Amino acid sequence: MPDPHLPVTDRYRGKVAVVTGGASGIGAAIVRRLHAEGALVVAGDLNADLLARLADELDERLVAFPMDVTDEAAVVGLVDRAVTTGVVWTSRSTPPGWAAGARSSSRSSTPGTA
Ligand SMILES: NC(=O)c1ccc[n+]([C@@H]2O[C@H](COP(=O)([O-])OP(=O)(O)OC[C@H]3O[C@@H](n4cnc5c(N)ncnc54)[C@H](O)[C@@H]3O)[C@@H](O)[C@H]2O)c1
Repeated sequence: MPDPHLPVTDRYRGKVAVVTGGASGIGAAIVRRLHAEGALVVAGDLNADLLARLADELDERLVAFPMDVTDEAAVVGLVDRAVTTGVVWTSRSTPPGWAAGARSSSRSSTPGTA
C-alpha cells in the first residue's frame, strides 16, 4: 500500500512505467506507488508467483511480466511489452483510471516512461 503519510497525486496518469524486481521489497513498493499515482506499470521479475499476487491486488494498470533482468532478450521483451501496452492503453477512448485528454499533456503527447 502507498505510504498514507505522503499525498497521493495523479502525476503519473498517462505515463507508462517499467519496474524491474517489481514483485517484492523496494521494487513492489515502487510499483504500488507509481500505480497509486496513476501510471500504467509494467512490472518485471523472476518470481512469477509474487507478480501474480501483485496483479491480483492491483487493477489492470499493473501488467505482470515474468522475466530475468540478466537476459538481454528478456529486457527487450519487457520494454516492447511496455510500449505495446501503452499504445493500446492510450488508444482507448477513456482508459480506466486515465481521464480523457490526460495523454495529451504539455510534457508528452505519447506514452512515456515515468
Ligand atoms: N531492503 C533494504 O533495506 C535495502 C537497502 C539497501 C539496498 N538494498 C538492495 O536493494 C535491492 C532490492 O532489495 P529488496 O529488499 O527490495 O529485495 P527483494 O528480494 O525483496 O526484491 C528483489 C526482487 O528482485 C527480483 N529479482 C532478483 N533477481 C532478478 C532477476 N535476475 N531478474 C528479475 N528479477 C529479479 C526478486 O525476485 C525480488 O522480487 C537488493 O539488491 C538489496 O540488496 C535493499
